[in-house]
Amino acid sequence: MRPNSISTDLRHHRIALPEPSQSYDQDAEWFVIELDRKWHEIRFHNYAEIYSIPGLYEQLFYNVLQCDSPRFMCDFLHAELDRAGVEPGELRALDLGAGNGIMGEQLRKLGVAFVVGADILPEAARAAGRDRPGTYRDYHVLDMTALTADQRAMLGEYRFNALSCIAALGFGDIPPACFRTAFNLVADGGWVALTIKEGFLTDSDTSGFAGLLRDAIKDGSFEVAGSRVYRHRLATSGGPLHYTGMIGRKRADL
Ligand SMILES: C[S@@+](CC[C@H](N)C(=O)[O-])C[C@H]1O[C@@H](n2cnc3c(N)ncnc32)[C@H](O)[C@@H]1O
Repeated sequence: MRPNSISTDLRHHRIALPEPSQSYDQDAEWFVIELDRKWHEIRFHNYAEIYSIPGLYEQLFYNVLQCDSPRFMCDFLHAELDRAGVEPGELRALDLGAGNGIMGEQLRKLGVAFVVGADILPEAARAAGRDRPGTYRDYHVLDMTALTADQRAMLGEYRFNALSCIAALGFGDIPPACFRTAFNLVADGGWVALTIKEGFLTDSDTSGFAGLLRDAIKDGSFEVAGSRVYRHRLATSGGPLHYTGMIGRKRADL
C-alpha cells in the first residue's frame, strides 16, 4: 500500500469545524475559515469557493478529514489491472468530476500517462492547472448531461478505455445521466473505477444510482471485477464515512 501521497503546498489556513457533537448530513456539512481577519462559513459542497483558495481543499479534506479515496482506488485499480495482466500505461483515462486533480495525480503516479479531466466548474479546471500543472493531457469544463455535438465528437477522439469517477457521484454532484454519458464514452472492455456512498446502493436509494448500477451489472454492461467498502473520510463529527469502491470493465453502453 502506498502512503497517502497527495501533493499540496500545505499552505495552512485558519479553519474550524462544527462541534463534533453536532452531526450533519453529508450535503450540509460546513466549516469556517478566517480570510482578511473575518470568519466566513463555507459549505463543503461549495467546491467553487474552496478550489479558489490555494491549499484549502487538501487541508480540509485530506489533512483534517483524512480523505483516502484517490489513493485507495488507485491501489485497488492497480491490483485489478495486475490480475488481468494489463499495464497502467495502456490506459487512456477520463477522470470525471476531476476537481483540482488529486485522482489524476494518483493515476499518473500509477503509470497512466494519458488522463483527461472533466468537471462542471471552471474553478476546478483553474485549480487543477494551478496545483497540478501537467497532470492532465487536457481538462474540459463541461456539462456531461448536455454535451453539444462538437463536444461529443471531441471527447470521442480521445478513444478512452478507462473512466475514473471518485467522490463525485450523488449529493447534488454528478447525476446518473452524467455518469451514463461518460461511461458510454469508454470503449467496450475499458476499465471503470468509481466510488459511491454506501447508502446509495441500497433499495432505499432515491438518487437513481442503485437502479442504474444494479441494471448495468445484471444486464452485463458493467462487469464488476472487485467491490470494496472502505473509509472515504471522516465526518465533521469524527465518525467514519464509508463508501463502496468498484473496479470493473465496461462491456456495453448503458
Ligand atoms: C468531491 S469533488 C471530487 C474531486 C476529485 N475527484 C477528488 O477525488 O478529489 C466532486 C467534484 O465533482 C464535480 N461535479 C459535480 N457535478 C458535476 C457534473 N455534473 N459534471 C462534472 N463534474 C461535476 C464538482 O465540481 C467537484 O469538482
